[in-house]
Amino acid sequence: MQLIEITDGQGRIIAPDWLQAAEATHRQLRPQLPPDYATKMQRVFAQGGRMVLAVDGEAVLGIAVWRCFENTHQGAQVYVDDLVTDDAHRSQGVGHALIEWLSARARMLSATALTLDSGTQRREAHRFYLRERFDITSFHFNKNL
Ligand SMILES: CC(C)(COP(=O)(O)OP(=O)(O)OC[C@H]1O[C@@H](n2cnc3c(N)ncnc32)[C@H](O)[C@@H]1OP(=O)(O)O)[C@@H](O)C(=O)NCCC(=O)NCCS
Repeated sequence: MQLIEITDGQGRIIAPDWLQAAEATHRQLRPQLPPDYATKMQRVFAQGGRMVLAVDGEAVLGIAVWRCFENTHQGAQVYVDDLVTDDAHRSQGVGHALIEWLSARARMLSATALTLDSGTQRREAHRFYLRERFDITSFHFNKNL
């Protein structure tokens, strides 16, 4: 397994073929992504999003979308927007490898925490995060407008 970054620090896509290859796996987590996946992801990247893939040869095993930011509540943190392992490759350590990569990158960026939101219905993912030694530290509130 190899971990490949497909964006640079300025939000530029440095591996467009890999972005295309990631779409099917990404849609397993986010089926509501619009048909024009590349344009949507360009907007996400323009606002600080970055993306890393776990690959084996030409196969995408898993993906993470993340960003680094600082707020008043914490210092710099790496926030994970999306984490998904292709359903044919789950429970083989791909998710763990992505979390390890994100943790290492966070340390490189002097971030003090890895943070994320996870829908309350994703109970299996919650077991995974607890095993990865995440703590549940807040409730996330959302008001549709
Ligand atoms: C959550 C998710 C990303 C985890 O990815 P994964 O690649 O399956 O993660 P891992 O393989 O590292 O670990 C998963 C399980 O496999 C087990 N495992 C890891 N390596 C293993 C191995 N070599 N052999 C057998 N089992 C193994 C782990 O014990 C772990 O068990 P747990 O989930 O009960 O803690 C994945 O299940 C997924 O994509 N889910 C759907 C999307 C989703 O909900 N994403 C989170 C959004 S917030």
